[in-house]
Amino acid sequence: MKPSERLSRLPPYLFAELERRIAEKKAAGVDVISLGIGDPDTATPEFVVEALGEAARDPGTHRYPSNRGRPELREAVARFYGRRFGIELDPDTEILPALGAKECVFNLNLAFLDPGDAALAADPGYPVYTGGPLLAEADPVLMRLLPEHGFAPDLDAISPGDSARARLMYLNYPNNPTGAVAPHGLFERAVRFAREHDTLVVHDASYTETTFDGYVAPSFLETPGAKEVGVEVFSLSKGYNMTGWRTAAMVGNAAAVEAYRALKTNIDSGMFEAVQLAAARALDEGDEVPRRMSDLYARRRDLVCDALAQIGVQVTPPKGTIYIWAPVPDGHTSASYCELVLEESGVVVSPGSAYGRGGEGFFRISLTVPDERLSEAVERLRASLGG
Ligand SMILES: Cc1ncc(COP(=O)(O)O)c(C=O)c1O
Repeated sequence: MKPSERLSRLPPYLFAELERRIAEKKAAGVDVISLGIGDPDTATPEFVVEALGEAARDPGTHRYPSNRGRPELREAVARFYGRRFGIELDPDTEILPALGAKECVFNLNLAFLDPGDAALAADPGYPVYTGGPLLAEADPVLMRLLPEHGFAPDLDAISPGDSARARLMYLNYPNNPTGAVAPHGLFERAVRFAREHDTLVVHDASYTETTFDGYVAPSFLETPGAKEVGVEVFSLSKGYNMTGWRTAAMVGNAAAVEAYRALKTNIDSGMFEAVQLAAARALDEGDEVPRRMSDLYARRRDLVCDALAQIGVQVTPPKGTIYIWAPVPDGHTSASYCELVLEESGVVVSPGSAYGRGGEGFFRISLTVPDERLSEAVERLRASLGG
């Protein structure tokens, strides 16, 4: 059996070696604490679970959904965008449910890229921005994110050839993995670039609701002209503790929404309608949920930043996301430092290089473990790696 060439274009899986070491440690009886994956440890709010139960008991939700989605969900998304960002969206033409931001981001590559086309993707960045174009037989073109530029890509540094074939540009703020928030003027520059080169800007808004210290993240669609050239992928996964539910929506440019819908009718049959109704309830009645979660993550962020300072790792506390992005100490690579941390303390942190070559020299800590486990992890780091 021979898997496709397409599949073999994907880069090697960088967590493989770390996973082998974790398995070894566990087999040796070490109580390993993983700060690797960003998956909220807190349950989905009870009122959302109840809404699901109610909706699931109605046989009217049991049949094939349509890819357009229930009007109740599209209208709830429109109300949310109006209330939260002051953006008006037409629920019929500018909103489509997605089975998580991941599904949407991946499928946009199939909807918009042909062989030879390029997708502009951040380095470091969420791996689907580079894996997706490769699976669509197109080329990811990397935009380096540097700390000295606030982790904003330099759009002027993209070569004329790559600019001309760039059909997609992925942006993501607040940003995974760097924790950076939307850099000043970047969205405006992206709109200008997109107009000039006929590029669709895709803003992944997975973390807009998880912010700290009074910072309020904007939607890309607030930028003048954004709806002419772009879409935003909004997810309930992180803000509402709903990663397992696969609930997101693509919103914005109507022609792009229609292309995505046309593609999806060939791939999936939409989101379980009971889940759609529960997601609508979360959006309509849950404004305080992401606020409460942000307060929790802000406390955890401070705990981790203090501990890192004590082991000689200086970080700027992020204003959003559920991650801390930190430089590895001198003399280490991302991989060697993550191995050292695991070896010395039984704590798993992610090597920055897993998010692209530009992530080399950094490691990522996720704040999604219960407080007691996080405190324990922090104590172990202090004890084993401290001064
Ligand atoms: C930047 C980014 N986009 C998308 C996702 C996936 O989100 P979803 O659960 O909505 O598919 C993640 C998950 O970690 C992410 O970090």
